[in-house]
Amino acid sequence: MLEAFRGTAIQLPNRIAMAPMTRGRADDTTGVPHPRTAEYYAQRASAGLIVSEGVWVNQTGKSGPGIPGLATERQAEAWREVTEAVHEKGGRIFAQLWHAGRVGHPGVTGRTPVAPSAVRQAGRIFSAGGWTDTVEPRALGEEEIGEVVRDFAAAARRAVEAGFDGVELHGANGYLIQEFLARNTNLREDRYGGSVAARLAFPLEVVAAVVEQIGAARVALRISPGNPENDVVEDDWKEVYSRLLAELRRYELAYLHVIDAPDVEVLSHLRPLWPGTLVANLRSEEPTSREEGESLVESGLADVVAFGRLFIANPDLPARFALDAPLAQAHHDVYYGARLDGYTDFPAFEPDSAKFACSARS
Ligand SMILES: Cc1cc2nc3c(=O)[nH]c(=O)nc-3n(C[C@H](O)[C@H](O)[C@H](O)COP(=O)(O)O)c2cc1C
Repeated sequence: MLEAFRGTAIQLPNRIAMAPMTRGRADDTTGVPHPRTAEYYAQRASAGLIVSEGVWVNQTGKSGPGIPGLATERQAEAWREVTEAVHEKGGRIFAQLWHAGRVGHPGVTGRTPVAPSAVRQAGRIFSAGGWTDTVEPRALGEEEIGEVVRDFAAAARRAVEAGFDGVELHGANGYLIQEFLARNTNLREDRYGGSVAARLAFPLEVVAAVVEQIGAARVALRISPGNPENDVVEDDWKEVYSRLLAELRRYELAYLHVIDAPDVEVLSHLRPLWPGTLVANLRSEEPTSREEGESLVESGLADVVAFGRLFIANPDLPARFALDAPLAQAHHDVYYGARLDGYTDFPAFEPDSAKFACSARS
């Protein structure tokens, strides 16, 4: 057993985490997870830790069609079935709490997206009718920022009440938390923008509020320093994230989840600054591989490695790694969307079985 989570009773049976992955199967009107969601996550309960798909903390923070929330009691009740199913199979699951910031669309939420500043994202985003032009977000007022912080805290409370073992705050991939950190998306000149210290204020307020609600041992943060996804520019990431980690070290967080990429090499810079548990994941064209994971752990850059795409088609990924069994491939057509094929129909590995080969569209 790996004592990955300091100060908690949570221990991981292996160093393999399932990375958070939006699958778009929730009821688009209510934000309630699909009835099959419990089965989907329970099939993957052999992961040392499951991080759920990103779950919105308020309606404006919803990024795309079919994404579930944790903003209402009804949503929380449905998540209880999920956490119970995972626990019954001996697993552990954190909820990833998400506010999409400017990566939202009125076609999805009926609202203008909000962000630190009214800076439109270049490119297109996935909305109700498919790929569409982004819209200019509305800059959050100071009081509204406080409300969003409270929404994160309330969602964390609901998550724990719904049986999640903890929450991972989504500070990665160009969504609201990272938009406050990045210079090109945060043009504010109040206490939330300008200096590096001010750009850190919102993320740190969210962490503090969530820690106060549910205790640091149940709280994690995901970051992707220097990641240009969703048009975020972080040329000063070394300074920003060094200071962020210095502030976070006062809490004994469950873990820090870092997305690295060959073009930035974040881990070699941040690992020495983080004495706690570090979960790593790699951003590249190809899914994070077993070999890459082993090398991250052996080099000491990570304690746990999160695998995303490999878990879609390989619900029993830890067993397949252990057996050196072949890995199934999921076609990216099944990654997102309301359809149920490509969701719970990927079988566990069965030696000598032709049925191993997978879903309709793989
Ligand atoms: C279908 C899909 C959905 C994703 N949704 C999320 C998400 O909700 N939250 C998040 O932080 N990352 C999300 N990601 C990124 C993954 O967590 C991970 O960082 C990425 O897939 C790289 O890891 P991999 O190479 O192991 O797949 C998503 C990735 C995929 C493929």
